[in-house]
Amino acid sequence: MPVLAVIGAQFGDEGKGKIVDALAESHDVIVRFNGGANAGHTIKVREKEIKLHLVPSGIVHGRKRNLIASGVAFDPAVFIKEIEGLRKAGYPVSPENIGVDFRCPVVMPWHKLLDAAKEEAAGQKIGTTMRGVGPCYEDRAARTGLRVVDLLDAATMQAKVTSRYMPKRTLLENYYGHKLPQEFNEREILVEYSQYAQKLAPYACDVSSEVNAALMKKKMVLLEGAQGVMLDISYGTYPFVTSSNTTAPAAATSVGIPASAINEVHGVVKAYTTRVGNGPLPTEISGALGERLRGQGREFGTTTGRPRRVGWLDLPMARYSARLNGFSAIHLTKLDVLSGLDEINVAVAYDAPGGKTRELPVVALEKSKPVYKSFNGFGEIPAAEWRRMAAEGRKKKLRALPENAKKYVEFVAKECGVRIASVSVGPERSEIIFL
Ligand code: IMP
Repeated sequence: MPVLAVIGAQFGDEGKGKIVDALAESHDVIVRFNGGANAGHTIKVREKEIKLHLVPSGIVHGRKRNLIASGVAFDPAVFIKEIEGLRKAGYPVSPENIGVDFRCPVVMPWHKLLDAAKEEAAGQKIGTTMRGVGPCYEDRAARTGLRVVDLLDAATMQAKVTSRYMPKRTLLENYYGHKLPQEFNEREILVEYSQYAQKLAPYACDVSSEVNAALMKKKMVLLEGAQGVMLDISYGTYPFVTSSNTTAPAAATSVGIPASAINEVHGVVKAYTTRVGNGPLPTEISGALGERLRGQGREFGTTTGRPRRVGWLDLPMARYSARLNGFSAIHLTKLDVLSGLDEINVAVAYDAPGGKTRELPVVALEKSKPVYKSFNGFGEIPAAEWRRMAAEGRKKKLRALPENAKKYVEFVAKECGVRIASVSVGPERSEIIFL
């Protein structure tokens, strides 16, 4: 299977970074295909936590080629900071192992300001990450944005910045009444972006042509999704979504490969649900139990530090994701976080305006109520015990788990109609049981 896409099946933060990191071992090229610096992928290697926003998770593997595809809202400031940070942490980063597509839309200072101004002004706040991602994609669709290739030619960049600057300033000041920082002036922006352009130039490349050439040479390609299916601009809980398509078919467009080249799609499903930002979360758990799960799962945004809302696993949602993406396997993550609960609920259906349904009533979520099935808890299991089970799982597979945990995993697989490829029971790379 030369091209495998890894997709978040819920609202993002399913633990994709860790799964991509594990799968990267057996792949030659790792490509990030959507979103921007709004994403945060956490990888834990030998007690050290690495947080990535733009650079694909394969970077910690050294000899892999890591690419940022044309559909990514590219923030040069974040990219440069990230590669410098990785270098300091001892990871070799160079144009040899990372590249950025010429076509990526570039996040400009006005995009971040507009993100903030729109959120302040909105009656219905989305709760964005304020990384300028939505306004950057708006400009791409309006065909007024800058692309990476524009930064590489000083005259083109100057002309484009000059033509975009004043309309954006007027919008921010006169329409939104937004207070602008002093450094928001055309000259400073040009100086800043010229410096980025110099550092960036050796990394700019044609991702489509590289990936197609890699496929001709039978190289293994891993496509890394950001966010999750329920944040997809078309199929998510609109308008409480991000501004890109997060599903596997979008990967082909972004990377510039034939849709038929993606022959395997894996979904990452967390053993419960989390959401950061506003919008419906039908299985939301409030009160002390919610607090407890948030604490146990360390559910705070990687990018913004915001506390994530938590809820029970939603199987109609997982099935919806499986259908949209054609999951051939599921990676079930953070099973260990459920330890110590007496009872674990799972949504298996919905009471929706049209009657009871096993489907996710995606356009009537706020008028629908989840129908739960309850499971007995797994008991209080300390971290060291999960580590032992993970080690034992190499041979014993699911039989290494407590009986109730095994039942839970098997139920998820049966209800989704998709095999479980791995179960992760702790934050370390070694705490994944591959089935
Ligand atoms: P934006 O993508 O910053 O415009 O934010 C839109 C919505 O997507 C907000 O609810 C964000 O919290 C959410 N979001 C964006 N990126 C991520 C992510 O990587 N993980 C989880 N939620 C995200």
